[in-house]
Amino acid sequence: MKEHSINTKKTVGKNSLNQYLRQFEGRPYFYGNASHAFYDIMMWLQKNRPKKKPNIVMPVYIPAKLYRFILAAGYEPKFYDVPEDLNINLEEISGLIDDQTQAVFAVHFFGVPVDLQPLKSITESAGVYLIEDCAHSLNASYKGRQLGSTGDCTLFSTRKMLQLHCGGVLVLKTELWDFKPSRSERVRSPFTMVHFAGSRVKYTVNNWMKAYSPFKQSEIPYDGYIDFSEEHIVRVKKMDFFFRWYINSQDLNKMANERREKFLYLLNGIHDLDQFHPMGMERYAKREETGQYSLHSGFVPFSMPILTPEGARDQVQQALCDAGVLCFVGWPEAPFGLKGFNGAEMLKDRLLELPVHQFMDDHHLKIIVDCLNSLRVQVKENKSETLVSA
Ligand SMILES: Cc1ncc(COP(=O)(O)O)c(C=O)c1O
Repeated sequence: MKEHSINTKKTVGKNSLNQYLRQFEGRPYFYGNASHAFYDIMMWLQKNRPKKKPNIVMPVYIPAKLYRFILAAGYEPKFYDVPEDLNINLEEISGLIDDQTQAVFAVHFFGVPVDLQPLKSITESAGVYLIEDCAHSLNASYKGRQLGSTGDCTLFSTRKMLQLHCGGVLVLKTELWDFKPSRSERVRSPFTMVHFAGSRVKYTVNNWMKAYSPFKQSEIPYDGYIDFSEEHIVRVKKMDFFFRWYINSQDLNKMANERREKFLYLLNGIHDLDQFHPMGMERYAKREETGQYSLHSGFVPFSMPILTPEGARDQVQQALCDAGVLCFVGWPEAPFGLKGFNGAEMLKDRLLELPVHQFMDDHHLKIIVDCLNSLRVQVKENKSETLVSA
């Protein structure tokens, strides 16, 4: 991996989750998952500031799970589009805010940071809550500011960033009213310990067997779904004791450094960044005079979202899967059949997430680079017809 690993600008010293959360103004609450915290915040807002028909201004590119939680909380989602660079359009968002809006929700998709300060000024003057979704970022900053420190509250999905079965944290900055989490049950530790042991065994065997997976880890999973005929019920839970202990035992600086190093290896290893275009790159990377890329300090990726050529995404995903690396494709269920969201339509068809988590070893990363470098997309009348090996 060394050949491309330059300029990773490592963060030195250990940083536990407790230490990290202390940097935020506000109190942390530990949940079964980040979406449980999201539901709790929506319920709390509605309880303290009831609106007849509460709505939340949301990106339309989200997992079906979040959509279901919005409906379960009795809210109407008012969707805004998500463009190719994963940034936000302030005009579009302010146009959606009305007197029934409780909150605006903004996401740092896949760890690609968004400057939320201008949005904060808008939500503040409209008197609505800003929920900052850091499900895909932990221990990250942008323009010198911690991600998660701008919203009135922030959601972290520790399960996603630390590759665990469950676990999320809410940091509540503005305690307008006395917040009491509604969670009563706790996720059971024996359950999480069994899942934890199982997943670690699978990853270890997969790395040991050079990306061959006897447990079928690299199979492409099913898509999300949303069934409007169902009643949406949520059981909000507290984080289990085992993961509460485990996540605090992890060094977040090490996690950040490892992710950055793997990300940079991919960025400098993939030759054709026009065909496999990393999204929002101008906000996290810079091309040096040497021609190599370096990453902005503070950038901590969840994965590397790339925009594949039109019509080619599923073939690229399958080629990587056949080579032994499972890549997710964001949320192909979005924009949920809704019309007029050209950005989300494009992401639905073309986004591919290259993984950079801690269980990706050098061999997996080399597979990704070699596979993408050996694929060429044949473009015919602006439509990719086939992928061929170069
Ligand atoms: C952007 C985003 N926000 C929030 C969540 C919710 O996180 P969790 O799975 O911890 O409930 C997810 C999960 O997929 C997500 O992708």
